[in-house]
Amino acid sequence: MPTDLAIHSQAACYPVNSHRLKQLANWLLDQCGVGDYGVSLLLTDDREITRLNVHYRAKNQPTNVLSFPFKEGADDFPADLPFKELGDIIISVETALRESIEFGQSMHERMNWLVIHGMLHLLGYDHERSASDEKEMFDKEKELLSKLTTKLTAYRRRGMTKLAINVDHVATVRQARGITEPDPVSAAAICELAGASGIVIHLREDRRHIQDRDVHLLRQTIKTKLNLEMGANKEIIKIALEVKPDLITLVPEKRQELTTEGGLDVLSQKKKIGAVIEKMTAASIPVSIFVDPDPKQLTAAQEIGATFVELHTGKYCDVIGERNREHEFQLLVEAAEAAAQMGLRVCAGHGLNYRNTAPIAALDTIEELSIGHAIIARAVFIGLDQAVREMLAIIRQADCTL
Ligand code: PXP
Repeated sequence: MPTDLAIHSQAACYPVNSHRLKQLANWLLDQCGVGDYGVSLLLTDDREITRLNVHYRAKNQPTNVLSFPFKEGADDFPADLPFKELGDIIISVETALRESIEFGQSMHERMNWLVIHGMLHLLGYDHERSASDEKEMFDKEKELLSKLTTKLTAYRRRGMTKLAINVDHVATVRQARGITEPDPVSAAAICELAGASGIVIHLREDRRHIQDRDVHLLRQTIKTKLNLEMGANKEIIKIALEVKPDLITLVPEKRQELTTEGGLDVLSQKKKIGAVIEKMTAASIPVSIFVDPDPKQLTAAQEIGATFVELHTGKYCDVIGERNREHEFQLLVEAAEAAAQMGLRVCAGHGLNYRNTAPIAALDTIEELSIGHAIIARAVFIGLDQAVREMLAIIRQADCTL
């Protein structure tokens, strides 16, 4: 990635989604025709930016952004470098926050503008040079901001990331005793009261946890949204068409597995899955397909008429080592972006817990997370209401990142 982002710890007055900012800077480099250049972006605080402002501009006050071009004539870089360096952009997050309040902008809007402004300075634009230079720079800023707005509004979700809770594991405990408690129907009500925006249940062929009775009762009692997870199996399709959940999610299902082990291979079963989508569509039931973050699977899902895809986050959650995790995360980011651009609505889930959910929740292409095991496991110790609220707090916090 050509953009290198550093964040001073003093800049922690506002949480930062470094991925989003890097993406913005890289997109700007491309838009300005310098995609083969790199840029260093540093987020800092008022104290540090004042120090730099005194040193380089003899101004003893904080400022919002400073740009330092790497070289005057940027063409004399050694030819064997993987990319050439445009320079440094330094932003005071503290000043950005103050200005966002002053100008009635969101922090996203303010930071977008500051990165654009800093980038144009690196490219030689200078609003302080003359009136015509000022006009030229402000026109370019406007043009880039408008392109960015079009790009973002084309497929970004509006509003907060939602949380749908899978209550299968409440039924698992009940089935272990073969009695009537704990009841997933009661659990679903508690989840909804705590702020969940949907309830997910997987009616498996072997009925190992959720039972037919649960499906019917939940259909009657759920106030938010019932998402029925299911394999493309004749008997279960029939039940779905009778019960009419608000959404079905098609998953691969193997009897031997402990839980869903991977995304559905849509590509090799387009006809079969397409036929299920047709039936559901005729009954006005939207279909989501649980897929690995693989562009070929996304395209196949879109071609056969899925409304949603749920990206399988299992690998990202389970992988060992920070580098591997970053790689899996990147695959999810790119898949979510690609799916959204194809017009698919994007959800994600599997393996998400209280430690790994925040980066996924911060992606504004993903509209809902489906989480089960971690919440039910925590609920055993601290209660279901509290466990749901704590997960929602993580999601809300992540949503507010830059
Ligand atoms: N999404 C799908 C498609 C699933 O099969 C499951 C597990 O039932 C989940 C999300 C939730 O996974 P977890 O229980 O690990 O949070």
